Amino acid sequence: MAIDEDAARLGALRTEGVAAIAAAADRVLLDETKLRFLGRKGPLAAIVGTLGRRDPEERKELGRLANETRSALESAVAERAAELEAGDAERRARAERLDVTLPGRRSPLGRLHPITQVIDEIVDVFVGLGFKVADGPEVESDYYAFEALNMPQDHPARSAWDTLYLEPNDYGQPLLRPHTSPVWVRVMEENPPPAYFTMPGRAFRRDVADPTHLAGFHQIDGLAVDKGISFADLKGVVEVFAKALFGSDQRIRMIPHFFPFTEPSAEVHVSCFNCNGKGCRVCGDEGWIEIMGAGMVHPNVFKAVGYEPDVTGFAFGMGIERIAMLRWAIGDIRWLYEDDLRFLEGF
Ligand code: PHE
Repeated sequence: MAIDEDAARLGALRTEGVAAIAAAADRVLLDETKLRFLGRKGPLAAIVGTLGRRDPEERKELGRLANETRSALESAVAERAAELEAGDAERRARAERLDVTLPGRRSPLGRLHPITQVIDEIVDVFVGLGFKVADGPEVESDYYAFEALNMPQDHPARSAWDTLYLEPNDYGQPLLRPHTSPVWVRVMEENPPPAYFTMPGRAFRRDVADPTHLAGFHQIDGLAVDKGISFADLKGVVEVFAKALFGSDQRIRMIPHFFPFTEPSAEVHVSCFNCNGKGCRVCGDEGWIEIMGAGMVHPNVFKAVGYEPDVTGFAFGMGIERIAMLRWAIGDIRWLYEDDLRFLEGF
């Protein structure tokens, strides 16, 4: 009687155990299940523990059933372990799979700063007209910044180009150039006439920052020296430039002005590209916008660089930030230098 009961219990144990083992979701659960059915304190061990007390016939029969149950459970464990192993490998393979059909991740592309864009655009216009590009040092000597440009010591015009000065040394007092015009002197010293150069770069002034001023900014100058260069050549070049930058419908006008390094000198105005000369907020109801200073190179400048008096030339210079601000209706020069991508990405 007892053997039938125990035999039935072994059969149930086998069915239940095999199902539980097959359902174990991972390695840890499998170990737990294995322990539950095959462990020393499990139901199988309990039945095997009674074998010693049975008569030989029962012991033989029940022992055989117990062994079958154990090996069924053990092979179920081995099978499930192999399945889990394979599942792990597949998951790993899936996680590591490289899907070459997915679109790549784009890193954001940089772009040129609006000031660099304007410099490039202006330089392109003058290069198209035959000018070469030159540059010079930002830390200048008094000689190149003032003296050679017809502004001797104590000349009152110097105050318009007041700048930041460095510690004096054996050669004088270095300063941050207040305009890019010192580069004319440097290129003429290095190049005999004819000389056609455009000279972009940084300039510095003793200015407090406000919506239209910064102590550091950019300028671009142009210089054309040859035999027979006249004011009409200056006007033609400036007009081509103004149309290239502000639109072919625009006109220019030149208003008499004073600069120590040019004679005669002029302020160049372009007709307002916003209202076409009618008068608006961009041009302050003038219809015209000042874009640069210009004039015929002063003979004293030629004398300083050793050019013979048989040449004549014109020069002009303008502030890059001012051109950019007009161009894109930028309300405050400082926005250009705050490195705020929300602003910079607009260009
Ligand atoms: N260098 C002058 C300035 O900074 C501009 C200028 C250049 C004027 C060339 C006349 C000729 O204001």
